[in-house]
Amino acid sequence: MPKRYSYSDILAMTNCFQDKLGEGGFGSVYKGYLPGGSSIAVKILGNSKFSGKEFINEVSTIGRIRHDNVVHLVGFCSEGSNQALVYEYMPNGSLDKHIFLKEGRVKSFGWEKLHEIALGTAQGIEYLHGGCDICILHFDIKPQNILLDHDFIPKISDFGLAKFYPKGYDFVSINTARGTIGYIAPELITQNFGAVSSKSDVYSFGMLLLEMAGGRRNVESKAKSSSKVYFPSWVYDHLSEGGDLELGNITEVEIEIARKLCIVGLWCIQMEPSDRPSMTKVIVMLEGNIDDLKLPPRPFFSSPQHVSIVEPQSDSSTELLLSGSQEESLYNNS
Ligand SMILES: Nc1ncnc2c1ncn2[C@@H]1O[C@H](COP(=O)(O)OP(=O)(O)OP(=O)(O)O)[C@@H](O)[C@H]1O
Ligand SMILES: [Mg+2]
Repeated sequence: MPKRYSYSDILAMTNCFQDKLGEGGFGSVYKGYLPGGSSIAVKILGNSKFSGKEFINEVSTIGRIRHDNVVHLVGFCSEGSNQALVYEYMPNGSLDKHIFLKEGRVKSFGWEKLHEIALGTAQGIEYLHGGCDICILHFDIKPQNILLDHDFIPKISDFGLAKFYPKGYDFVSINTARGTIGYIAPELITQNFGAVSSKSDVYSFGMLLLEMAGGRRNVESKAKSSSKVYFPSWVYDHLSEGGDLELGNITEVEIEIARKLCIVGLWCIQMEPSDRPSMTKVIVMLEGNIDDLKLPPRPFFSSPQHVSIVEPQSDSSTELLLSGSQEESLYNNS
């Protein structure tokens, strides 16, 4: 069971919130140390819908989750409106920093490691979906929520947190409580696309795979050519025409890994949830031979030029917006 801490323990362990690691839809994260010296990351939750008792119930559920690819919850704090979660600290930070490289920075790992990270992440999500005695839908799979330990083993963070917030809570804006635009499955935006299920996480995982393969955000308004602005669409057209992925000077083996990540990703982002593979099937595909993988049907609701792109407001998220008439065509095609 995770350990219960008082708010003054939290203040002491974070040295009064001195070292901020980042901020997302649920609150801010600070670095800290347990009395024994181990590093921790403390997430201070803002506006959770749960009372103290309900919060402790939920925490005891997510505290029972144990898997090599899931971040371990060390403890929590629940004191009046002060609610916090204490996690093990991941020294290599989140995956976004390693796949969206700032200029001048060199890659931390090669294609084979990238493939291992994709596979480990898939195994963590599969466990959340069914490997433990409860089914946890994550609803916020994205590079910022994949943390890397000292060996770059991926660990999923923020699982179970979507439940802490009321349904519909602001979930279609940037850095929100229930999914982030660019990764969020269509059925989470409108019921016209079918029921919300574990396949909604599969969709977000597909977007993540494409970003890992492309080494860039899926929507990039400053892309070198306009056809490359929306990467999933560009990748699909390239693969279907037998073109190469323009990934620079890489070996045959690396090209195969990139193609595999892209093809599996494109299966995961099919519009219809039932056309997407389960996470168990995703693992089989990632572990299997590239020659056994077929390109899926084109997964997009409209042609790329009908997708309007809005400049990301912050460094941490991308945004893909549809104007009113495009939204209509999105419904008609479904
Ligand atoms: N256990 C941890 N170890 C190390 N760094 C962490 C840990 N947890 C979070 N972080 C860092 O803090 C940042 C902010 O995390 P936070 O979860 O608040 O926001 P987010 O992941 O960007 O968005 P969301 O609220 O949708 O999860 C992360 O991007 C990550 O870099
Ligand atoms: Mg997070």
